[in-house]
Amino acid sequence: MLKPENYQLAPQTHHIEPEKKQLAPDGQPFQLSTLKNRQGMTTTLMDWGATWLSAVLPLADGEKRELLLGCQTPGDYLHQSAYLGATVGRYANRIARAQLQIDGQLHLLLANQGVHQLHGGPDGFHARRWQISRQSPQQITYQIHSADNDQGFPGDFTATVTYTLTDDNRMEIDYLATVDKPCPVNLTNHAYFNLDGEGHDARKQTLQLFADRFLPVDSDGIPCAELTSVDNTGMDFRQPKTLAQDFLKDRDQQRVKGYDHAYLLHRTCGATDNPAAHLWSADSKVKMSVYTSAPALQLYSGNFLAGTPNRSGGEYASYSGVALESEFLPDSPNHPEWPQPTCWLKPGKQYRSTTIYHFFAL
Ligand code: BGC
Repeated sequence: MLKPENYQLAPQTHHIEPEKKQLAPDGQPFQLSTLKNRQGMTTTLMDWGATWLSAVLPLADGEKRELLLGCQTPGDYLHQSAYLGATVGRYANRIARAQLQIDGQLHLLLANQGVHQLHGGPDGFHARRWQISRQSPQQITYQIHSADNDQGFPGDFTATVTYTLTDDNRMEIDYLATVDKPCPVNLTNHAYFNLDGEGHDARKQTLQLFADRFLPVDSDGIPCAELTSVDNTGMDFRQPKTLAQDFLKDRDQQRVKGYDHAYLLHRTCGATDNPAAHLWSADSKVKMSVYTSAPALQLYSGNFLAGTPNRSGGEYASYSGVALESEFLPDSPNHPEWPQPTCWLKPGKQYRSTTIYHFFAL
């Protein structure tokens, strides 16, 4: 049975005095940066959580369309548990029972979803100030330092995320990280897309996802079976179809109120030359193609978005946006047998991951 109290995080409860509304929990202002390209596309980012706030695409008919879910003010981001646009780490998605095995020894992380760890722990990178280390009109780099044992993770850790808006409307996101003790690393961005704009049911979008297998999960979102073929299931997006078409058709979806599953992508050795997915708006005016070097893509249909503050001062309904998160498979540190590169970063090595969201006005 679905246990939403376990599955979903309680909304964060930082209390903010009205006069301090636009200060982050560290007492400093949020710093927003806008990237703009020659085609007039703009994207806005924030140092708190290295968060991608907005992507506005000029359409052929002159409309400027916001393609990302987001909040009205930076302070509102503290009052949601949907990870809207945030950079998630050290380990995106779930680590079962918040447990790792290191040299045969049990190593405990901080749990924040019942007994499990979700998206890097209670004080993960989405809830931290990142430093701007480089900035130009079409590119920004944020850096974070995370001390040994932060959220239970081993090793002194440093990561950068670079957002680049190219002149052909690609948002390129590049992650680099190093650590001085072996540590699992899985950095991603948690943007939710609605290519029709705010206020539309995101399930009307059409998706194509180049994966033959997905990972079944239990009602806590923890992998509960082997990688499974999408053949003859509603999980199959190899041919384009709307998210609505087979919505809740499978028991796998019913357990988690919709799509919230990792798909193992066709090529698993890390390349960005073939698309991982395409998404089309219901009105056929916008297309987005996703490329990633990561082995898997988490498809999340916004099953628990209800109550999340939106851009117009109201609240999102569930299924208002869809997230396509580039990742290692969930709970990979505990599944070395899965057919993907290792998620363990070793001292002296560098973690590198790239994801590209390419937008088209049709
Ligand atoms: C997870 C969902 C979770 C959401 C927001 C997604 O990446 O897969 O289960 O509810 O993030 O926390």
